[in-house]
Amino acid sequence: MDIDGTALAFSGLAVAALATSVLGLRRRLQLSRAKHRSLAGHSRMARRMARFVPFYAYDERRFFCSDGATPEIAAQRRDGFMRLAAQFQAKFPETTRQTAEIARRISDLQFTDTYRVPFQYSRLVRQHLPIGTFVQSSDGVTVTDLDGNRFYDLTGSYGVNLFGYDTYKGTMERGLARVRELGPVLGPYHPVIADNVRRLTAISGLDEVSFHMSGTEAVMQAVRLARYHTRRRYLVRFCGAYHGWWGDVQPGVGNPLPARDTLTLADMSEQALHVLRTRHDIACVLVNPTQALNPNGAPPSDTSLVDGARSAHFDKAAYADWLERLRAVCSERHIVLILDEVFVGFRLAPAGAQEYFGVRADMVTYGKTVGGGFPIGVVCGRKDLMKRFRDDRPADICFARGTFNSHPVVMGAMNEFLQFLETPEARRLYGNDLDQRWNARAERLNARFETEQLPVRVANMSSIWTVCYTKPSRYNWMLQYYLRAEGLALSWIGTGRLIFSLDYAEGDFDAVADRFVAAARAMERDGWWWCDPAATNKSIRRGILKEMIAQRVAEWRGRVTD
Ligand SMILES: Cc1ncc(COP(=O)(O)O)c(C=O)c1O
Repeated sequence: MDIDGTALAFSGLAVAALATSVLGLRRRLQLSRAKHRSLAGHSRMARRMARFVPFYAYDERRFFCSDGATPEIAAQRRDGFMRLAAQFQAKFPETTRQTAEIARRISDLQFTDTYRVPFQYSRLVRQHLPIGTFVQSSDGVTVTDLDGNRFYDLTGSYGVNLFGYDTYKGTMERGLARVRELGPVLGPYHPVIADNVRRLTAISGLDEVSFHMSGTEAVMQAVRLARYHTRRRYLVRFCGAYHGWWGDVQPGVGNPLPARDTLTLADMSEQALHVLRTRHDIACVLVNPTQALNPNGAPPSDTSLVDGARSAHFDKAAYADWLERLRAVCSERHIVLILDEVFVGFRLAPAGAQEYFGVRADMVTYGKTVGGGFPIGVVCGRKDLMKRFRDDRPADICFARGTFNSHPVVMGAMNEFLQFLETPEARRLYGNDLDQRWNARAERLNARFETEQLPVRVANMSSIWTVCYTKPSRYNWMLQYYLRAEGLALSWIGTGRLIFSLDYAEGDFDAVADRFVAAARAMERDGWWWCDPAATNKSIRRGILKEMIAQRVAEWRGRVTD
């Protein structure tokens, strides 16, 4: 090649390289426009920043006036706190004693106990208001602890308890009885599985089923199959959505490694649709319909309740419209649409979120309640997507097994659950007015809060509720302790999520509402909702940021002088 030819070749290469980098840059720009502006929308950054958050705890003096409250208000809060502590000590001695004893050996318990409230307050709260983790029995909509205290259950056992504990006692018992002859045999199936498959394919409207041990595993398998069949790399999830604790679906805080093959896009966003429409490397889109209650929000938990910014509002029509548009783009681009119904499946409607929102997915994951009280994860999918091998490439397989998949007892209880779905009792529990019933209850409770000028509101998607606060207070998380004192059981995420079972009768709900109002009144009386009139959610967060910076500087100075 002569000099001119070489120069031409080089300039050709340079043009190609430039075009590639311009294209790459455009793709990055499109992607960043399709991200939600919150930290939850930027998983990598969130992970990096989390490492810089220093620990500090308020001492007894600061604990009661971290918002600049006057000494009178601080004293009022201290009295209330100590009164509550004395009440806890008198009411829950055995439950807390046994919890404290076992907690040293159960890491999960140490974690949940530490993260019930914002970390600055956690030490003193754990010292004075320990939460017992033991319950000895359930009955109707209540659970009873080791001291004989009956609580209205608002935990819903993470969503498993849809029809009421008594129903699951029945499905568990009858399920076990059905497979007793077989016992613990694994590998071969108990014949009851055939009816489960028949019912699940009918409910999901999909061709095939696979059984797993948890919702997390079901999601893993659905995503793995989508990648296998599309031969594409990326999984798209929406900002804030929870899909279990597998690394690829938890790219942000909580996962020690970055999830390199996951894209987190903004929910209900045109730019997100644009990314799906224009990229060629997206295998699947994972949707958790629970997000309809707070699109783009992380699962609400009192751990992060540092102000009054938690908000929630459910607009069924808007979310259904979003799903329809998402469905259309996925079909157009051959992206696998996976509806993760592990939580909402069966809760919103007998045939789940597909029926409720009027959308058809390529794959659906179920879990929680469908095990009839036992651990479960299920994937239902289109035949072509569920296949784990290629007829013409024997070594190119998509492997998924599990020792306990299709466990006879789980299959037995699942069958009892699926049969129960078709009984008049189940139809009665759903009623013809499921959403109206729960909406009316939420409205009634909100009206009481409003009348009494209490700064609390509830928002709901059917029987899934969250508590919001109208005051930019730093102490909203205290409500969970007042609720407990009133005999309402919440899960470790506190007032972030209340899950009702459908067997809550009007009388039960009224009792819960009375206790809720009483708890909020007591909290108001004890001064926790005193607020500096100039305080805003933004100013609170700015104040906390300042505290963190001061703490980091102090740590750095300490290291330098050591
Ligand atoms: C939507 C969703 N997907 C997956 C999971 C994970 O299920 P499991 O806890 O059974 O692993 C959950 C659990 O809360 C969930 O809500």
